[in-house]
Formats: sequence, structure tokens, C-alpha cells
Amino acid sequence: MDLVNIPALITAVFLLLVLGAVLWYAARVAVPLPEAPSGPPVGALAMERKIIAIVAMIAAMALLFLGYGFREPARQVQAQEGQLDTSIDRGIDNFTSLCFPCHGEKGQGAVVPDVTPERLAPPLNRADLRPTDSDTRTKEYDFIFKTIQRGRPGTPMPTWGQIDGGPLLDEQVNELTLMILNGDRQVMYQGKLATPWEHTADVVNDHVAQGLATLPKQPDVTSQPWYATLNPQQQQGVQVILQRGCGGCHTIPNIPGAQGTIGPNLGPHDQVPPVNQRPMIATFPNGSVPNNSIDDLSKWIMNPAALKPGTAMPTLGLSQDEATAAAAFLYSIGPDGTPGTAGG
Ligand code: HEC
Ligand code: HEC
Repeated sequence: MDLVNIPALITAVFLLLVLGAVLWYAARVAVPLPEAPSGPPVGALAMERKIIAIVAMIAAMALLFLGYGFREPARQVQAQEGQLDTSIDRGIDNFTSLCFPCHGEKGQGAVVPDVTPERLAPPLNRADLRPTDSDTRTKEYDFIFKTIQRGRPGTPMPTWGQIDGGPLLDEQVNELTLMILNGDRQVMYQGKLATPWEHTADVVNDHVAQGLATLPKQPDVTSQPWYATLNPQQQQGVQVILQRGCGGCHTIPNIPGAQGTIGPNLGPHDQVPPVNQRPMIATFPNGSVPNNSIDDLSKWIMNPAALKPGTAMPTLGLSQDEATAAAAFLYSIGPDGTPGTAGG
């Protein structure tokens, strides 16, 4: 990646012109005047030639430095990118020994081992964890770094930072954070170019093949009795909800492990009806977002901030198709919390 440096380019063109003019002038002066006495030039003419030579040398040297300057920004960018790749590689190493049992071999989320009732760890391969504009990216970096360093008290997410008594140095927390923030970047790892999440899956699958690890458990929905009663779109919705880790933030009835408490419960509970009977959401009953159809709800799921600026529900990067499927599934939840029983 070459960066074009406009002021340096103008200076270079100007210096080239000066150098050209000086050489042209020198060539003319060098032609001896017909009536000039023979022998080396003396007096003013000799002085003039020395000055010309010095000016030409200075211009040539300035050009040389400029030439180097052109390469320098590009060289620095290359060095930084190389450093980033090294950090991500180390992040992959730590993820595949410490984090994958809960967050899944490809960062897709999984059932947290050995906790009852069953509970899901959220996916970390999400698009909302790698925003592109630089302000949001800085904030996201801080959020991820602090979450890893301090953990989430009261949830299965452990404390990792040494400051808080965990095993990892700040630098290692930084490497894991960079890996999550660059989850879609192509990086070299063990001689292969792929995204960090493809690499983590390769490493864990290798360990499994060697009998050194077991694959993290995915919630089993297809064997649930209600699953067979759903139409294909509602079934797709269940898969979307599992893949996107909605259950890491929301409690959703009958979805194994969906015990999150960051967002509202998406099943009937206490005095709150199922989602298809909440005319206003975010948050029921006094929410500001209309919810009169699957279509309305899909708009919310696709882009919550567009309907309620500043909301804590992230934009997860779902396609229209996926959002509609998730909404169709939520609309199928009946008054007793069973999916597929809401009717029409
Ligand atoms: C024992 C299971 C477990 C392990 C191991 C674990 N996590 Fe977590 N992690 C969780 C759970 C559960 C949550 C959700 C906490 C909540 O409900 O707020 C979470 C949340 C997170 C989040 C915040 C996600 C979000 O969107 O809010 C990040 C980032 C994270 N973990 C990174 C890591 C990293 C990196 C490692 C390895 C060093 C790791 N976790 C290891 C269980 C685990
Ligand atoms: C990082 C946490 C988080 C994730 C992941 C998340 N949500 Fe939310 N969700 C929230 C929060 C917080 C709210 C409340 C927003 C508000 O009131 O501004 C919310 C609100 C909602 C509501 C409105 C409920 C009501 O009664 O007001 C629905 C429906 C919903 N989310 C569906 C989903 C679906 C489907 C997914 C997965 C595709 C999902 N959410 C993923 C945090 C999350």
C-alpha cells in the first residue's frame, strides 16, 4: 500500500525543475566563448562553476531524501500491519487454549460447560464487535478489553487480567481484544492465510483429532418436541437466534441456555405477554418502537439503533431474510411460552 504524499510530490517536481535549470545553465556556461583565452577558467567564471556545482549537488541530495520520504509512510504502515498480525496470532494461541470451551471453536458461542441450569456464552465472531468507523472502534476496543480483563461478575465469564487476579498480562488481553476486533481480517497463521476464526477452528479441530480437546457443546434444539411443529422459516429463525447469540442477552423460553438478562425476556413472564402481543417494544409496555407485525419486528432486529437511537441492543448485521426468520420464530411463541403455539 503506497501512500502518496502531495506536498512532497510538489517539492520534488520543483526541485527537479531547479536541477534541470541549473544543469542547463551550467552546460551553456561550460561552452567557452570564442575569444576566451585558453586554459582553465579563472576569476568570476571559476567561482560561478563552483557555485553551480554546489547548488546542483544540494538539489540532487534533497531529491534523494525526498525519494526515501516517499517510501517511509508506506514502510511504517507495513511495519504496523505486521505487528498487528503478530498480535492476532498470539490471540489465536490463547483463545484456542482458554476461551473456546465456552465461546465455541470458531467464536460462534456454545453451551458453558458444567453449569446448571444450562447457559450459553455469546458468540464473539459478531460483526457488531468489529465496527469500522474509528471512534466506535476505539470504544469497542475498551469494552472488549475491560470485559476480558475484569470478567463479568455474577456470570460464568471469568476474570482474566492479572490486575484482578487472573492469569493474563495486559499485553495478552490486548492481543485477544485485537483478534476479536479484527475477526474478519485475513492473517497468516501457521503458513495459512485465513480469518482468525477460521484459524481457531482449525487449531481446535486438530486438538480434537489428537484427543487433546473435545468440541464445545452446541445447544440441541432439533430434538425438542416443539421443533418439528415449526414451519421452515420459524426453524431457520431458531438457528439464527442460536448463531447470533440472542440468548446471551435475552431469556427465550425453550431455547436451551438462553438465560441472558442484559435485554428483556422474550417469552411471556410475570405480567408481560409473548412478543406477538406487545404492540410497543424497546421496552414493553412503554416502548417507542411499534411491533404490529413480523415485518415490524424484523426491522427492529436488523437495525435497532435506527428505530431507537442510543439503544443498548446492538446491530448484529443480520440479513433481511435472517431477521424475518428470527421475528417469525418469536411471533410463534404462545401464551405458555411454547414455540409454534401462537397460531395464525
Ligand atoms: C467458563 C466460560 C467462559 C470462558 C472460559 C470465557 N468466557 Fe467470555 N463470556 C462467558 C459468558 C457466559 C459471557 C456472557 C456474560 C454476560 O452474560 O454478560 C461472556 C462474555 C464475554 C465477552 C463479552 C461479549 C459481549 O458481547 O458482551 C467477551 C469479549 C468475552 N467473553 C471474551 C472471552 C475471552 C477472550 C475468553 C478467553 C480468555 C473468554 N471470554 C473465556 C463465558 C466464558
Ligand atoms: C448485546 C445484547 C443483545 C443481543 C446480542 C441481542 N439483544 Fe435484543 N435487546 C437487547 C436490549 C438491551 C434490548 C432493550 C432495548 C431497549 O429497550 O432500548 C433488546 C430488545 C429486544 C427486543 C424488544 C423486546 C421488548 O419487549 O421490548 C427484541 C424482540 C429483541 N431484542 C430481539 C433480539 C434478537 C432476535 C436478537 C438476536 C438476533 C437479539 N435481540 C440480540 C440486547 C441484546
